[in-house]
Amino acid sequence: MRIGLLTGGGDCPGLNAVIRAVVRKGILHHGDEFVGFMEGWRGVLDDVTMPLTLETTSGILHRGGTILRSSRTNVKKIPGGFERCAEVLAKNKIDVLIALGGDDTQSISLALIERGVKCIGVPKTIDNDLSGTDACFGFDTAVGIATEAVDRLHSTAEAHSRVLVCEVMGRDAGWIAVTTGIAGGADVTLVPELPIDIDDVCRLLKYRWEHGKKFAIVVVAEGAKLPELPDQVTVGNKLDSFGHARLSGIGQVLAEEIEKRTGYETRSVNLGHTQRGGTPSAYDRMLATRYGVAAIDLAHAGKFGRLVVLRGTEITDIPLADAIAKTRTVGEDLLAVVRGLQPKPGA
Ligand code: F6P
Repeated sequence: MRIGLLTGGGDCPGLNAVIRAVVRKGILHHGDEFVGFMEGWRGVLDDVTMPLTLETTSGILHRGGTILRSSRTNVKKIPGGFERCAEVLAKNKIDVLIALGGDDTQSISLALIERGVKCIGVPKTIDNDLSGTDACFGFDTAVGIATEAVDRLHSTAEAHSRVLVCEVMGRDAGWIAVTTGIAGGADVTLVPELPIDIDDVCRLLKYRWEHGKKFAIVVVAEGAKLPELPDQVTVGNKLDSFGHARLSGIGQVLAEEIEKRTGYETRSVNLGHTQRGGTPSAYDRMLATRYGVAAIDLAHAGKFGRLVVLRGTEITDIPLADAIAKTRTVGEDLLAVVRGLQPKPGA
């Protein structure tokens, strides 16, 4: 088989591990040939490729980013874009296209499937919010980075008797925030799933101060929203080609509000893309490799239009359409763990 590969959307640690696994299993066990399309769907539209061989995919397992690079190119916004993609794939004699990406990337694959292109998907988002799979690679690495940051923030917060607000990624779901908050022992954890109750935030901080701990850590997801504001906090008003705003700044807004209401000195730190860069954790390399092997096996089983997913501890596959149907948000079980570690209202 001749197989195309691309990585679309925001990068995350583990993309190279997937590419390596697909290519190694494909070449060593099926005699496949591979073409890498550069910068997501842009590489398909512009016919910009790189050869993927045992040599070009060697030594990349531990590397962050993606050797295929990435972009948020939206084929839907380009007149004749889907026809152009189909034409370029045919010109490159691609039998199956494996796209590594989140719901935006997979929505383009779905539209191409309707035009007769054989596609297979591998789920990818640092936010870990793709429905259909229990875990996306990259998430574990991001949580590791964020938890280490929170560990470090503790000592400086204590030295200065400050509240430190740590903003983490999580556009529509607070998986990174809630996991980091629990693992890092944050005093307050705020997620997009629930509107921020600033009175309750101040109550929790005052309780801590009154009980002798004159410093605190607040973890907030970038997508968390104050009901007092009309929208999520953004940098500028630019939208990407899929219509997403650049979320950033809720941490600073919150810090100012906390300081105003409590009188405690409060600073914010935004971890931003630090969470997406660098070497993947062992867990993410493992998950990414399992996804890669499963994706190439699906191609040879003739199961197209499917997404490889993790259910419990098993790798399986589901229809691509189900994967982008809705966002997988943080459940009440984890939110109850967060609440269970905090003093009850009225305490
Ligand atoms: O969707 C994943 C994500 O990392 C979000 O958490 C974040 O809002 C966004 O991508 C950042 O996108 P970009 O890298 O394009 O700024």
